[in-house]
Amino acid sequence: MGDRLASVEAGSFEALAQRVHGASLAYLDNAATTHMPRSVREAMDAFEVRDRSNIHRGVHALSQRATDAFEAARAVLARFVGAGPAHELVFTSGTTDALNQVAFGLSDAGADTPVLRPGDEIVTTALEHHANLLPWQLAARRSGARLLVLRPDAQGRLHGDGLARLLGPRTRVFAVTACSNATGERPPYEELLALAAEAGAFTVLDAAQAMAHEVPDLSRLDCDFMAFSGHKMYGPMGIGVLAGRRAALERLAPLRVGGGMVEWASEIDAGWSDLPARLEGGTPNVAGAIGLAAAASFIDAAGRDRIAAHVGALRAHAVQRLAALPGVTVLSPQASGSAIASFVADGVHPHDLGTLLDERGIAVRTGHHCAQPLLACLGVGPTTRASFALYNTHDEVERLADGVAHALEVLR
Ligand SMILES: Cc1ncc(COP(=O)(O)O)c(C=O)c1O
Repeated sequence: MGDRLASVEAGSFEALAQRVHGASLAYLDNAATTHMPRSVREAMDAFEVRDRSNIHRGVHALSQRATDAFEAARAVLARFVGAGPAHELVFTSGTTDALNQVAFGLSDAGADTPVLRPGDEIVTTALEHHANLLPWQLAARRSGARLLVLRPDAQGRLHGDGLARLLGPRTRVFAVTACSNATGERPPYEELLALAAEAGAFTVLDAAQAMAHEVPDLSRLDCDFMAFSGHKMYGPMGIGVLAGRRAALERLAPLRVGGGMVEWASEIDAGWSDLPARLEGGTPNVAGAIGLAAAASFIDAAGRDRIAAHVGALRAHAVQRLAALPGVTVLSPQASGSAIASFVADGVHPHDLGTLLDERGIAVRTGHHCAQPLLACLGVGPTTRASFALYNTHDEVERLADGVAHALEVLR
């Protein structure tokens, strides 16, 4: 019961070996941020110690080595997400940054030919993290487009027929999550993206909650833009990716203009570089890109299917134990392909519950999880969320359930 995945070498994740409040740490906040294996830290250290230098601008040896390492990281990540010759991959600071780039890039009124125009429609869903909702609210305001929201059923599920009813001749964009960070619901995004693409919309996938255990494959998806963050997939903070079809990325007006992204500049005008540089203005997080590629390699070495099976079993175990506690409701209990167990407990505030769990060394997240419209739609308030990674164990799930049972007794 206590076994981690065999491929997770003991000591690879030093932080997890610590004690918190006198108890061994059970880190169950992986949907917010995972820990990094030693291989990722070593890859970043190697760059910082030996090759640290700015990229793409220097003729000296260190700059060339840094540039090579940065571009090699891009190639590793492109393979990781199934990018083909018609795809491109841009480094960002994270999912939020990537989605803001897409929403801005399609709606910038200053662009020669902005994609979004007055009367157009943007469709997103009520399952989204604020990072895949607020940028679309602004894009709608900026462009005069209408924002439509696909709502889930009472169980928190999205359906293709609901989307089909929202799509129309003015639909220009459809944006959906690969997994809700608040409920763990994994929508049928393959079907939804295909429907939207068929309707002629640009399609956007927020893959932040999928990358660590169920990597979306661009070669099989009708996906123009896909966003993800390094720190949720065993990689560093402050780095992420916007990957997608080159033809679609070419339609984006750059969000950040300045150094590194121009072909030429005069006092009154400038011409943008080709992709990917065009969307990577300023000095990028080179160590982060290298660390993110090392994280992708770590996931592949551990085995995507084995990770998915492991976190899926932990989630199923947690759902079964938590749902059996009095007055506890687990959200989206039916969800598969998910590493998140989110629940509410009658008469108990999640912050109090989370505080009592913390006293036992159990780290969970409590609150609205940056998904207030979803929780409002489901008629629940803030939740307590446990989320699993490949280093978690069934013993930790047992500790979680025992800790929740104890907290409910104390707080009620
Ligand atoms: C589904 C989803 N999308 C987007 C984000 C934003 O990610 P970041 O804060 O790394 O930009 C998160 C973070 O929790 C998330 O869970």
